[in-house]
Amino acid sequence: MSMSDDRETPRLLRVLAGEAVWPPPVWLMRQAGRYLPEYREIRAQAGDFLTLCRTPDLAAEVTIQPIRRFGMDGAILFSDILIVPWALGQSLRFAEGEGPRLGELNDAADLRLDEVPDRVAPIIQTVAKVRAALERKTTLIGFAGGPFTVACYMVDGRGGEFLKTRNLAYTNPVLLGAIVEKVTQATIIYLTMQIEAGADCVMLFDSWAGLLPPDLFATYVIAPSRRIVEALNTRFPHVKIIGFPRLAGLLAVNYAAQTGVDAMAMDTTTDPALLAAHVPSNLALQGNLDPLLVRAGGPALLAGVSRIARAMHGRPHIFNLGHGILPDTSPSHVADLVGALRALAEPADMST
Ligand code: CP3
Repeated sequence: MSMSDDRETPRLLRVLAGEAVWPPPVWLMRQAGRYLPEYREIRAQAGDFLTLCRTPDLAAEVTIQPIRRFGMDGAILFSDILIVPWALGQSLRFAEGEGPRLGELNDAADLRLDEVPDRVAPIIQTVAKVRAALERKTTLIGFAGGPFTVACYMVDGRGGEFLKTRNLAYTNPVLLGAIVEKVTQATIIYLTMQIEAGADCVMLFDSWAGLLPPDLFATYVIAPSRRIVEALNTRFPHVKIIGFPRLAGLLAVNYAAQTGVDAMAMDTTTDPALLAAHVPSNLALQGNLDPLLVRAGGPALLAGVSRIARAMHGRPHIFNLGHGILPDTSPSHVADLVGALRALAEPADMST
């Protein structure tokens, strides 16, 4: 048998279990997407983005495309965090070149939890198809948005500064709390279904966590994330959870200590070594190369890959970006990144 024997624990899962692995396993946020010509072809075939997400054969194909081309250690389910509001009955469309638009939401009682399982069924089929198609050494990452980030889009109806949502925290906390509660419950249902269908681990994308002051961060980011982690841990004790409290700064330390996640993704602004000094040594850290550096390419890209990998040597680390790949990135730069990482000589580190 080859080195990647089917019975070996995949490298990404070893890191999530708290082990330091060299070179670190790698996957990239938005690794399936518009920078790949083969994605644009399938996207054109599907017509619109939501149809692509809800067509299991096509969604499975685009999930696997970057693995075929670059051989990352992880495949992330191709879907979107806004599937949850749509599954709860809120209208959703992606206006070409403008981003998401959601229908008005005035009452949390309008959100229908009972419809969620049927509505997400095609995405769950995608999970099963991808898991069946991938080699065992490739980890399938399921995901959902963090409840606060999802509520931002639901309340404001579109991307931006999310002032409606942030004002609601002070003017009508009962309403915001009820919306976040519904999203939390829907997320537990949705991630449970993803895991049962074959997701090997899951990630919570709380992209707008950094908009909140500390007290609201505790209420709307930490508390619901912890509920999701506890529910999943009870049901699936061995399934690891990655949290991404983007742009949370020092509050990421509280997030790591209080949510119960097994791993935390670092945004582009985080100093990996500084954060590592403030979280448990067995908590896996993921990240955090600047997506603009991948777009730029060249020697600076290779130096950036080496700097981050070396800074994390000796502790559990999954190599990734600090945010998603930009659509105008050359695929050859992604190949360079993965190649450079895998060619890195292990540092002779006295402390490990
Ligand atoms: O490869 C992957 O990372 C997996 C798939 C994935 C998508 N969105 C596909 C997508 C994941 C994990 C997401 C998460 C997501 N979606 C987040 C959290 C991460 C982050 O980026 O902060 C957020 C905030 C969203 C909401 C969203 N989806 C927006 C604001 C947009 C429009 C902006 C854009 O980039 O076009 C999307 C659309 C979207 N989601 C695309 C993709 C590939 C582009 C759709 C297209 O093909 O036109």
